[in-house]
Amino acid sequence: MDPIKNPFSPGAGSPPPELVGRAPTLEEARILLGRIKQKRPEKSMLLTGLRGVGKTVLLNEIEYLARGQEYHTIFIEAHENKALGPLVAPYLRRLLFDLDRISGVSHKVKRGLAVLRSFIGTISLAIGDITIELGIDPEKGSADSGDLEIDLPNLFVAIGEACEDRNCAAAILIDEIQYFSQKELGALIMAMHKVQQKKLPLALFGAGLPILPGLAGESKSYAERLFSFPNIGALSEKDAAKALREPAQAVGVTFEEPALEEIFRLTKGYPYFLQEWGYQSWNLAHASPITLLTVQAATATVIPRLDQNFFRVRFDRLTPSEKNFLRAMAELGPGPHRLKDIADILDIKATSLSRVRANLIKKGMVYSPAYGDIAFTVPLFDEFMVRAMPDLILLQTI
Ligand SMILES: Nc1ncnc2c1ncn2[C@@H]1O[C@H](COP(=O)(O)OP(=O)(O)O)[C@@H](O)[C@H]1O
Ligand SMILES: [Mg+2]
Repeated sequence: MDPIKNPFSPGAGSPPPELVGRAPTLEEARILLGRIKQKRPEKSMLLTGLRGVGKTVLLNEIEYLARGQEYHTIFIEAHENKALGPLVAPYLRRLLFDLDRISGVSHKVKRGLAVLRSFIGTISLAIGDITIELGIDPEKGSADSGDLEIDLPNLFVAIGEACEDRNCAAAILIDEIQYFSQKELGALIMAMHKVQQKKLPLALFGAGLPILPGLAGESKSYAERLFSFPNIGALSEKDAAKALREPAQAVGVTFEEPALEEIFRLTKGYPYFLQEWGYQSWNLAHASPITLLTVQAATATVIPRLDQNFFRVRFDRLTPSEKNFLRAMAELGPGPHRLKDIADILDIKATSLSRVRANLIKKGMVYSPAYGDIAFTVPLFDEFMVRAMPDLILLQTI
C-alpha cells in the first residue's frame, strides 16, 4: 500500500496518529494546570516508565495543554553529562525576559533576573563554561551559596513570584529526568516544595525512567508527598488494537482480528513496537485488510530493524563487562531480577558486580524497581541480548 499514506510513526518522540490509553493522565495534568493557575495547592507530576512507552509524546501533549491555558512553558531535555544548573539557566532567562517585556515595570521580574544572575555566577564558578548576558547586577546572598539544594529553591521562588506579579503561570517540563544526579533531583524536589508552600503559579512536569526507588531519605519522603508518579506503561490488548485499527481506518484500511492478536503477542502492547509493526505491516500489505500473513512477513523486517536501531544504539555504548552482565540477566528472562542470581550465572560474587551495575544504571540501561532488584529499561531487551550474544559465551573482560 502507499507508503506515503502510512499513518504509523515509529520514532523517539514522534507523535502517534492516535494517543491511546492516556486520557486519565492528561486529565490529571489538565486539572493540575488549572489548579496551579488559580493558586490552589496541587502535586506536580513525574511521568515514569520504560523506554518507548510514550513519555516524551505525553510531555509534549501536556505542554500543548499548558499553552492552551496560557501558561509560559519551558521544555528541557536532561543529558547524561550536563548539570542541571547550566541546563535550566538559559530557559529561565528567556522566561524572565518574556515576563519583563509585558508592559509596565515589575520589581519582582527585575528581582528574578538579579537572582538568576547570582545563580549563574555560582554555577559559572563551578562549571566555568556558562556566560549569559542579563544586563543586571546579581542580587548578593540569593541563590549564590554554591549549594544547589539552597540556590535552586531560591531561584524557583523568585521566578514564581515574578510570574505571580505578572498574573501569569509557568510550566517547566523536563524530559529524561533520570539523568540528574541524586543531589540535583533533591534540589529540584526542594525547589518545588518551596514553590508549593508559597502557592506560586509554577508547575513542574517531569518524564523519565523510574527515579523514586533511587532516592533516599528526605528527598524521597518529600518526593512522595509533592509529586504524583503516573506510571506510563504498555497498552492493554484493547487499547493496542485501537492504536492500530483507528489510524488505519481513517484512511480506509482495516486489520483482520488475527493480525491484531499477533501484533499484540509480539509487542506486548509497548507503544514504540506497535508503531513499528503497524508501519511495516502497512508497507508490506498489497491491499486492505492487513492479514496475519502480512504481519508475519513484517516481523521478519521489524526484528532486524529494531535490532539495528532501537536496541543496537544502546548495545554499542556498552563495555564488554556491561554486555556480559546484561547477557547473564537476559538468561533469566524479562525480569526484574536479583543481583545474586545474575552473579550466579556469571559465577562470581554479587559484590563484584556493583560497579558494573552502577554504570549500567548511569547509562540508563537498567534501573532498580525495588531495593535489591534490577530490571531492563528497554522492553524486550532480554530477547535482543539473546539474539546479539546467542550462546552465553561471555566476552573477554578488561
Ligand atoms: N499512547 C500511544 N499510543 C500509540 N502509540 C504511542 C503512544 N504513545 C507513544 N506512542 C509511540 O511510541 C513511540 C515512542 O514514544 P516516546 O514518547 O518517544 O516514548 P518514550 O519517551 O517513553 O521513550 C513513538 O513512536 C510514538 O508514536
Ligand atoms: Mg522519551
